[in-house]
Amino acid sequence: MIVLAVESSCDETSVSINRDGKEILTNIVLSQIDVHKQYGGVVPEIASREHIKGVTMVFEEALKESKIKRSEIDLVAVTKGPGLIGSLLIGVNAAKAFAFANDIPIIGVHHIAGHIYANAITKDLVFPLVCLVVSGGHTELILMKEHYDFQKLGETMDDAVGEAYDKIARTVGLGYPGGPVVDKLAFEGIPSYKMPDISMGNTYNFSFSGIKSHVINLVHNLKQRNEELNIPDLCASFQKTVSEVLVSKSIRAIKEYNAKMFIIAGGVAANKGLRARISEKITDVEVLVPEFKYCTDNAAMIGIAGYHLYKKTHKTDDMTLNGSSRVKLQEY
Ligand code: KG4
Ligand code: ZN
Repeated sequence: MIVLAVESSCDETSVSINRDGKEILTNIVLSQIDVHKQYGGVVPEIASREHIKGVTMVFEEALKESKIKRSEIDLVAVTKGPGLIGSLLIGVNAAKAFAFANDIPIIGVHHIAGHIYANAITKDLVFPLVCLVVSGGHTELILMKEHYDFQKLGETMDDAVGEAYDKIARTVGLGYPGGPVVDKLAFEGIPSYKMPDISMGNTYNFSFSGIKSHVINLVHNLKQRNEELNIPDLCASFQKTVSEVLVSKSIRAIKEYNAKMFIIAGGVAANKGLRARISEKITDVEVLVPEFKYCTDNAAMIGIAGYHLYKKTHKTDDMTLNGSSRVKLQEY
């Protein structure tokens, strides 16, 4: 089975083609990071226009690189949400036009299901599993007892972890996106700054707005007193506190639900500090992490998720399929 997938929910225009939900034949990702960098974050209106400019070229490039003919494609999968509505609409309409013109069935995929299924590119998923979703828009702990069965155990009550990384980076002038820079600097510093308790008690919920405000206040106070800020130490302190809480709640969920596998998903899954803590602390179950190139937004993960959704439901969408900025993971 050949699946062509499209992702455009934020600032990456991407088209990928896979065979049988495993073999990635191509994964073209056109990133807009350089365009948005000067504004310190993604500007939705500009993102939509950049998707329009790039989407046809990305389709053509994917078909060329994979050497797959249009007539060989069995299914088109596309991110239907959540994400920026203007951005989503470009991908959804491009996918619908391609599917309609070539008489191929189409299926809408949840963006977070895509991040989760990025793990299935590496190895088959084993159930029950616990998944830690950490992206720019989501922070959730999810229990999966079978394919496409998502039980939310907990989530962030305020900011997503990637969002907190980006805001802290902006406060200390490290640019956008902040996650990768904070991650790199964290390894050059020592966690010497005191951080607040962000454990949220005995729940599976998270909160990152407190630590974010704490860091912003700390930076401003030091500035007012003309005292020096050690940025690598600040990054190390923040990263240590955040990865500790993410991993300790994951361990509790693995134990409570007798999970056989633990996986991580989303852009922050690329975080080296988090990955190191996971491999050090989670040793009782099989741990899967996506390859770095499949952590941040890409269409390969959407294609794999679309393949598994079709295998499970044997249902496809029709031409009324539309993008939506808010969709629940459980509503597929
Ligand atoms: O999943 P993603 O590509 O987009 C969303 O669906 O949100 O995640 C983007 C987020 C950004 O906040 C970015 O700063 C963060 O992932 N990120 C990282 C790292 N690489 C990307 N955060 C921490 N450490 C990293 N190495
Ligand atoms: Zn994403």
